[in-house]
Amino acid sequence: MSPRGQGAASGGPEGAAGQRRGIGVLVSGEGSNLQALLDAGLPVVAVASNRPDVRALERAAGAGVASAVFELGAYDDRDARDAAMADWLESHRVGLVVCAGYMQLLRPVFLARFSGRVVNVHPAPLPDFPGAHPLEDVLAAGAPAAAATVHFVDEGVDTGEVIAAESVAVLPGDSVETLRARVHEAEHRLLPKVVGELCAR
Ligand code: GRF
Repeated sequence: MSPRGQGAASGGPEGAAGQRRGIGVLVSGEGSNLQALLDAGLPVVAVASNRPDVRALERAAGAGVASAVFELGAYDDRDARDAAMADWLESHRVGLVVCAGYMQLLRPVFLARFSGRVVNVHPAPLPDFPGAHPLEDVLAAGAPAAAATVHFVDEGVDTGEVIAAESVAVLPGDSVETLRARVHEAEHRLLPKVVGELCAR
């Protein structure tokens, strides 16, 4: 099945040797990190979501960036979904994939297509606080800090090599929400910087 596309189908910037140089962003929800990449003027050429009707897709449309939805239920299994998503990203000449609030694990069939070119932003120190509820875990552990963390994606849950991190101190009286707000500020600084550096490589 083909993805449900939205917005203009745009090709990405291409290097002199024809390399794929655009950024593909994977999202599942709000998309504030996608917005930070767009606001930084980075060459985001494609946005893929596993969920329809999320704010991140509105942000892509607002920026005139091609987007598509790859809901798991529309495919036979995760491998088929991830292969279709990789095909679509390659058709937009994506050379670097950024998971920005993408709440699904990527299958090996996808990672093999973008070997060493998939990164994720995570709101807590790694390897200490992986998983889907890291800020809850930071507070429950009495840890001194969360962190905006950008890391390479491998087949594990937040187990890939850390590229850069910015510590965010836990303050007295912090809730998950107050801590998350400060981590987001750090993410919006760090992610565009790291992605810009990776694009320049
Ligand atoms: C970020 O805090 C990121 O660390 C985590 O999911 C959140 C996504 O936020 N993986 P947004 O959708 O970019 O606003």
